[in-house]
Amino acid sequence: MSAVRDEVYHYNAERWEALVEADALFTRPMLDLDAEKAQAYLGLERLGIPGDLADRKVLCLAGGGGQQSAAFALLGADVTVFDISSGQLERDRLAAEHYGVGIRTIQGDMRDLSALDDSSFDLVWHPYSLTFVPDSRIVFREVARVVSRGGYYYLMCANPFFSGLTHESWNGEGYTLRQPYTDEAATCYPDQDWVYSQKPDGRRIREPREYRQTLSRIVNSLIGEGFTLKLLSEVRNDYPGAEPGSWAHFMTVAPPWLEFVWQYSPGVVGR
Ligand SMILES: C[S@@+](CC[C@H](N)C(=O)[O-])C[C@H]1O[C@@H](n2cnc3c(N)ncnc32)[C@H](O)[C@@H]1O
Repeated sequence: MSAVRDEVYHYNAERWEALVEADALFTRPMLDLDAEKAQAYLGLERLGIPGDLADRKVLCLAGGGGQQSAAFALLGADVTVFDISSGQLERDRLAAEHYGVGIRTIQGDMRDLSALDDSSFDLVWHPYSLTFVPDSRIVFREVARVVSRGGYYYLMCANPFFSGLTHESWNGEGYTLRQPYTDEAATCYPDQDWVYSQKPDGRRIREPREYRQTLSRIVNSLIGEGFTLKLLSEVRNDYPGAEPGSWAHFMTVAPPWLEFVWQYSPGVVGR
C-alpha cells in the first residue's frame, strides 16, 4: 500500500470505485481471450516489444480492470497489477481465476511504488491514467526505479495538445482550444455516454479530473530518467464523412491519445 493520501488520491480512488460499480468500459474484464487474441490485443509486434513473454516480469501500472493483466498472464508473463482501485483489482483477480492463471495485485497510488523492488520488471505497461496526477515526473522516477536495465516502458496517455477537449467542444467550425497549454493545468470534461453500461441509481459519478502533462515534460523527464524512445504513435482513426461534432469526427481531427515505447538504458543518454 502506498503512502500517498492527498486530495488527488481520494478523488481518484472514490471515482474509480464508482466506475467499477457502474460497470464502466474500462472496468470490464476481458473473458474471451486466448493466446492469439491476447497477442493481437496487446499489439506487441506493432510496438516493437519482444513478444516472448514466458516468465517475463510485467507490471500493469494503473492498469487494473482485468484486461491487460489477463492478456499478459495468458502469454506466460509473471504479472503484477498496481492500481488505486480495489474494485478494479478485484476484476483482475476474477479474470485470472477465469483463465486459471496467477497474478499479484497491489493497491496504491502510482506516485509511490515503494511496495515494488528496484529493477524488478522487464516491462512496465501503463495504460491511460498519467493525467490523473498533477506531476508526472514523480511517476516517471518511480518507473525508472522499478524497471530493469534494458526493460521497456509502454506509456499510453492523453495527447497533450488536446487534453481536456472532446467532441462536445465543436463550435460549428472546429474544436475550440480554451485551456492553457501548461503543465498541470486542470482539465475537466464529461465522460462519454459509451463509457457506461449502467449508472448507479441516484449516484452521480464525478467527472474525470485531469492535469495536462506537456509533451516536453513527458519526453524530457523520461530522457532525464535514463529512457530511450523506441516508438511514438498517435492513436487516431479515420472516419471519412463522420458527422462534425461526433466522437468519430473529433478523433479524425484531433488524435486524443499518444503511445510511447521507451527502453531503460541509463548512461546512454540523459542523466
Ligand atoms: C482508464 S483505466 C486504464 C486501465 C484499464 N485496464 C484499461 O485499459 O482501460 C485507468 C486506471 O487508472 C487507475 N488509477 C487512477 N488514478 C490512479 C493513481 N493515482 N494511481 C494508481 N492507479 C490509478 C484507475 O483505478 C483505473 O484502473
